[in-house]
Amino acid sequence: MNIAIVGTGYVGLVTGTCFSEMGVDVTCVDINEAKIKALQAGVMPIYEPGLESLVQKNVQAGRLHFTTDLVSCLDKVSVVFSAVGTPPDEDGSADLKYVLEVARTVGRHMNRYIVLVTKSTVPVGTAGKVKAAICEELDKRGVQIPFDVASNPEFLKEGAAVKDFLAPDRVVVGVESEEARKLLERLYRPFLLNGYPIIFMDIRSAEMTKYAANAMLATRISFMNDIANLCEIVGADVESVRKGMGSDSRIGNRFLYAGCGYGGSCFPKDVKALIHTGKENGYNMRVIEAVEEVNENQKSIVFDKINKLFGGELKGKIITLWGLSFKPETDDMREAPALVIIDKLLKAGAIVKVYDPVAMDECKRRIGSVVEYCKDMYEAVIDADALLLITEWKQFRLPSWKCIKRLMRGNVIVDGRNIYDAKELEEEYFVYSRIGKK
Ligand code: UDX
Repeated sequence: MNIAIVGTGYVGLVTGTCFSEMGVDVTCVDINEAKIKALQAGVMPIYEPGLESLVQKNVQAGRLHFTTDLVSCLDKVSVVFSAVGTPPDEDGSADLKYVLEVARTVGRHMNRYIVLVTKSTVPVGTAGKVKAAICEELDKRGVQIPFDVASNPEFLKEGAAVKDFLAPDRVVVGVESEEARKLLERLYRPFLLNGYPIIFMDIRSAEMTKYAANAMLATRISFMNDIANLCEIVGADVESVRKGMGSDSRIGNRFLYAGCGYGGSCFPKDVKALIHTGKENGYNMRVIEAVEEVNENQKSIVFDKINKLFGGELKGKIITLWGLSFKPETDDMREAPALVIIDKLLKAGAIVKVYDPVAMDECKRRIGSVVEYCKDMYEAVIDADALLLITEWKQFRLPSWKCIKRLMRGNVIVDGRNIYDAKELEEEYFVYSRIGKK
């Protein structure tokens, strides 16, 4: 089977690579020439565990190709996945210009039956616009070539995307013809052999499923952050509450961790887009609006704690951040709480030192040299008045507190992810503060 994937961002690259791993002939297309050249040479544009070796292996096997020219592969493919960006507009709505451009290119140049599958996260109803764009181009050409549109949202977690793709909880596919259904069923057959379900539905439901799933996960996080903040006020411990709640099988114990707010490329964008879809349709998404508001506040919570501990006097204080990416195992800093915290610390006159195992270059690219970049986690705490744990990378989990105590000039630790043992830290005479416990 021959397929094309348009967009070699996070989703497109993982999707294309994993299909080629299953024996499909995949052409990945991107307009960015430098990126395509780098990929042809096996150089990754993103950090994602396991991806580089899979790309190299499948390129060598001749199953995975990279090109800037979508048109050149349209005559050999039966399925085109569109995985281009849908950046949020000012008002939170998803900008569909790249998605529709792919549709127009397909319509202008296709000469055989093709299913155009949208993988990008797009508002409900987008498939209709994609279909109309293709029809318009075919009309201009004065030809009638059968085609289908479909929706196949992705549920990949950054840092575990390859694993998620190869062993998904489920694959959701929205189709409106038997032919498209058969083609996509065949394409995903290797996953069915593994026993994972592929769930077919109508296209609008598939588009909505993605937003509903992400909004639900974001809701769990904001809910727990709200509970955590109340726990601090009333003298409860959110970690105990989480265990007590999560043991109820109806609730489950995953995605219940209070922290310094969710970030990344999906939750913030999808929550905003869902609110916007509601507004556009005259319906207020009240729960989701609150989810977003709670998250915005939560991103400042670590700063608020440190500011309070220093009595509002942060000028000249040396504050260290461990972790910059929005979560471990990625260098992605989109909507990362670290950016909000750094900004607030600098505005308050603090000197900020940072260390992250992989996101330092990304941080430099975003904010430049306004903070001091340290070569390891221990160098970062030298002379620090306080240490803030922002991203729970594994290497931060069991540090040598004795060593840290010798290196720091102060003794304040704020744990934005609740990973440390309070007793252990207090034995070393640290002042330890975390989320959801006084
Ligand atoms: C998410 C969805 O999980 C995935 O299915 C979707 O396709 C894309 O969006 P991702 O953005 O990679 O994936 O990250 P995820 O692991 O879900 O975490 C998102 C954010 O929530 C992170 O900032 C993380 O720190 C935070 N989080 C997660 C919490 O604060 N508490 C939790 O219990 C879980």
